[in-house]
Formats: sequence, structure tokens, C-alpha cells
Amino acid sequence: MTYPANRHAIFAIATLAIAAWYSSPLTAEEAANDQTPPAGVTAVTPTLNAERGRDLFVSKGCVVCHAINGVGGKAAPALDATDESRQADIADFAARMWRSAFAMAELQAVEFAYQIELEGDEMADLAAFAADHVTQETFTEDHIPDDMKDWILEEPFYVDDPVFGKTQP
Ligand code: HEC
Repeated sequence: MTYPANRHAIFAIATLAIAAWYSSPLTAEEAANDQTPPAGVTAVTPTLNAERGRDLFVSKGCVVCHAINGVGGKAAPALDATDESRQADIADFAARMWRSAFAMAELQAVEFAYQIELEGDEMADLAAFAADHVTQETFTEDHIPDDMKDWILEEPFYVDDPVFGKTQP
């Protein structure tokens, strides 16, 4: 065998070995430790608009129970941004709402006789407003229509309330 033919043979064997390595199925232990995300899964990143979130905060009725910048109800915890980052974590915001879902749904049923509906992009905008102290500072009583002002709840239901507070099951 001449030298170049030998090189070809080695190359072919190496290629086969690499192909075999990659195509060999994972052991159960390897599969359990595999942190690779499933191919093709990516996160959907909606556009974030804190001003639209501010308008939704009123039009959806969140303001009846929650205050931001001192404007709104006291039935539920205030949703002022807690840091300067202006970074909205939409999934975390949704998780916070989910944690309080029982109380919120109950109180909405009592106050509105319906449950607020939200699309994904509306959730994103609300999360943006909740994270944005700059837009929050622009939020005043003037954003609340007069006929809605009577609806604002002043009583803090969520503090140690067996149904609406964090102590419920
Ligand atoms: C009818 C009253 C009511 C309305 C309307 C309402 N909520 Fe709530 N919400 C509550 C109460 C009460 C809690 C606290 C429940 C608890 O203690 O777990 C709460 C909790 C939350 C929390 C978790 C607060 C925390 O401590 O992290 C978020 C976030 C939230 N609401 C967002 C919203 C948004 C956004 C809207 C509008 C789309 C909305 N809520 C509408 C009553 C309401």
C-alpha cells in the first residue's frame, strides 16, 4: 500500500469511528445528565412596552386592587418596581401572579363578577410597566377615568386574610 492510500484508509476509519461515536445512543445515565435543550426550542420574546402596560393596568382593572406610584387600590400589594434595572422578567411576573391566582380570582369574582383575561403580549407589557420605575413615575390619578375611581378598593384584603391573603392554602 502506498503512503497516500494509507492516509485515505486512516481518514476513512477515523470518519467511521466519529460517526459511530455520535450515533451511539445515550445510556440512561448520560440521558439523565444531558442538559442540551431539545433542538429547535427557542424562547418567544414579545416586544415590551411599559406605557402600553400602564394603560392596561387601568383598562384591565388591576388598578382597582393594586397601586403603583401611590395611585390605585390597597386591596392587594403595591406593584412598584423594586430596583432601578428596568429589566422585566415576564415569566417571573406571571409566576408571581400565579402564586396569588387563587386570591385574585376570588376577589375579581366578588368585585367584577368576571375574571380578567390577558393575552401573552398584554402580560409582557404589564410586566414591563411593573419593572419600569421611569414610566411608573408618570402614572397619576389622571390616568384613571372618573367612573372607575369609585371602584378603587381601599381595604387591604391580602394582609392575613384567610381567603384573599397569602396565608390561604
Ligand atoms: C380584585 C382585585 C385584584 C385585581 C383586579 C388584580 N389583582 Fe393582583 N392581586 C390581588 C390580591 C388580593 C393579591 C395578593 C394575594 C395574595 O396575598 O396572595 C394579588 C397579587 C398580585 C401579584 C403578586 C404580588 C406579589 O406579592 O408578588 C401580582 C404580580 C398581581 N397581583 C398582578 C396583577 C395584575 C397585573 C392585575 C391586572 C391584570 C391584577 N393583579 C389584578 C388582587 C387583585
